[in-house]
Amino acid sequence: MVRTSERDKGPIRVGALFSETGVTSTIGHSQLQGTLLAIDEINAAGGVGGREIVPVICDAQSSPARYALLAEHLITKEKVNVIFGCYMSSSRKAVLPVIEKWNKLLFYPTLYEGFEFSNNIIYTGAAPNQNSVQLAEFMTANFGGRVYLIGSDYIYPYESNRIMADLVSQRPDSKKLAERYLALDAGMADFAAIMQDIRLQRPDFIFSTVVGDSTASLYRAYAEAGFDPKTMPIASLTTSEAEISQMGWDVAAGHYTSAPYFQSIDSESNRGCLARLRRRFGSECVPNLCWESAYFQMHMFANAMRESGSDEIAQIMPHLLGSEFEAPQGRVRIDPSNHHTCLYPRIGRAEATGQFTIVREARRPVYPDPYLVTHSLGDWTAKLHEQS
Ligand code: ACM
Repeated sequence: MVRTSERDKGPIRVGALFSETGVTSTIGHSQLQGTLLAIDEINAAGGVGGREIVPVICDAQSSPARYALLAEHLITKEKVNVIFGCYMSSSRKAVLPVIEKWNKLLFYPTLYEGFEFSNNIIYTGAAPNQNSVQLAEFMTANFGGRVYLIGSDYIYPYESNRIMADLVSQRPDSKKLAERYLALDAGMADFAAIMQDIRLQRPDFIFSTVVGDSTASLYRAYAEAGFDPKTMPIASLTTSEAEISQMGWDVAAGHYTSAPYFQSIDSESNRGCLARLRRRFGSECVPNLCWESAYFQMHMFANAMRESGSDEIAQIMPHLLGSEFEAPQGRVRIDPSNHHTCLYPRIGRAEATGQFTIVREARRPVYPDPYLVTHSLGDWTAKLHEQS
């Protein structure tokens, strides 16, 4: 006789491993809220086959080493099979060997530098062919190809800057003027020194791969230097509504971000989701691209588990791969061959209202190409996924 264990009937415990403190806590907090909103919705609709999802929440304090320790703790002590979490790529790189060692599943809701695949990860943020390729085309077409690269000192900025420099170099008259890295806790004085160099070099645009709290210092140092975003804007993949709320809306106005999601997306699904978020958490949450990924990936997990009846990776993975969901950004799909997600590239220009005006957007989802095998510059409709 096959016995259903208590574990298969009781609540579904899942790990929620984000940073509620430390330099990336603004985004981490919003990712946790996206996760919790989706869990509330799933549970209110009867859970997964009558079983509630219960998050085991751990604060990784923006420390990659702590991420690894907590992933081990969640798996070995809390007995979770699935972890939702990580923002900085350094934290994902720290968690990856733990997840693989125990053969568990990580959902990663963050844009990143690509060039990675794990059988144990589902990637729901943008790969470089879904944000960098479009941003390179937009910036070089509208401002020129002389780019100044500034980043935080860790793997995502190194790799993302390398990709941006490669993409920009496909245009005539392009030039990488400089590539500078600052600590994650860099302040105004550090960025002010870079602004002096920028004044001398006069790039057409600045590409920022700065993340977390120091993003505000970068944009403020730019404003204090008296530069004009109309002629030399900052372009980024990580400066979202959350960072803009930290730096001040007026400071951000005129700069550009490439992302699949902005709060300003004019769709019923997005408006409804934002209204539910505000009812649940008040106005204190600042939704952004990573919040949205955290939200929709939890729903995709629950839908797959309804079909598999189990959150064990071997059972649930076939139901995740190829699955689709009506997300606030549009209908997304997890690609079966590379575990990344079909998403909608968009370019937003920050306004003094704290919102982005969407100045360019893909009409159809763009297939994820994390190794940049088939992309071409300015590829907005690229390879729709083949239905499999
Ligand atoms: C990042 O580190 N993937 C933003």
